[in-house]
Amino acid sequence: MPAGRTTLSEYLSQQTAEHQSLNPDLSKLILEIAKAVQEIALLTSQGALEGVMGSLESQNVQGETQKKLDVLSDEILIQTFQSGNLVAGIASEENDEPLSNPKGGSFLCLFDPLDGSSNIDVNVSVGTIFSILSSPSNTKPAVSDYLQMGRQQIAAGYAIYGPATMLVFSLGYGTHGFTFDAISGEFILTHPTIQVPADTSEFAINASNERFWEPPVSRYINECKQGKTSVRGRDFNMRWIASMVADVHRILMRGGVFMYPKDTKDPTKPGRLRLMYEANPMTFLVEQAGGLGSTGRQRILDVQPESIHQRIPVILGSKNEVERIESYHREYDRAEH
Ligand code: AHG
Ligand code: MN
Ligand code: MN
Repeated sequence: MPAGRTTLSEYLSQQTAEHQSLNPDLSKLILEIAKAVQEIALLTSQGALEGVMGSLESQNVQGETQKKLDVLSDEILIQTFQSGNLVAGIASEENDEPLSNPKGGSFLCLFDPLDGSSNIDVNVSVGTIFSILSSPSNTKPAVSDYLQMGRQQIAAGYAIYGPATMLVFSLGYGTHGFTFDAISGEFILTHPTIQVPADTSEFAINASNERFWEPPVSRYINECKQGKTSVRGRDFNMRWIASMVADVHRILMRGGVFMYPKDTKDPTKPGRLRLMYEANPMTFLVEQAGGLGSTGRQRILDVQPESIHQRIPVILGSKNEVERIESYHREYDRAEH
């Protein structure tokens, strides 16, 4: 390996030596996840060659049709954790109930095995998102054990299966990115200490939902669209990949604001994205990189979860933009009540 390249395992050993408070088993767990991610990356890259594209007849607990790759990725992660003794409990977007690990462990792992799965069949980037909590009980954790606030996460991360496969995670000491080198079979530290710029001229939102948004969100987006001719005084650019992993990855690389806000499209759902599998881990990473995550009215990491599959509005990214959107919500709420 060329000099100066830090592999994932070297980086993890350094971190464990440097930070006394880090549980050494956390490094082992990240390495387990990295292995699973390599398997999922291989499957996604083989696409139609492996017959892994397309949908199944089944629906997940959220009433969404499952893609073959959703289920295969889920199985890979579950098998990884259940064959080790690090993770006591596993909660996945694809499973109704959390699963326990007969071998026990000191962590809980919550994940979205395949994020952005509507992009699989069109060969656009997808990813895996994970959140790690400390497990109050070594075996058979109760559902209530998972309902910890986002700020209690001890680590979080994602893998992105894009032109390059990357693993981006935080152990609570900054957010760092590793690129998979298929030649050496190693993840290499390529993006140390990622920083999200506080200001941005780029936003990401599914604009087809515009008529269902709340006024503060419409106000913000309209100002961005009006650009130089609005109070913003500069033009904005828009991107929407429909893979949260890919949209948030772009924001970690160059700034921006990602929004899946509260809307009235389906009044039974307070948001599209899931608190435990998407909002919390992605906010942890963005905040560890100097950005901010909010529902518009509350810091995401301070939300007390009520159920593991709970949905929530998400506004995430460059700090000054997220604070501006929060201020629009405050102004609106004050005027209304
Ligand atoms: P998943 O594939 O895990 O269900 O998540 C998809 C999510 C997220 O990745 C993305 O930002 C959003 O749904 C896209 O939603 P729209 O199709 O409404 O744009
Ligand atoms: Mn998802
Ligand atoms: Mn998913």
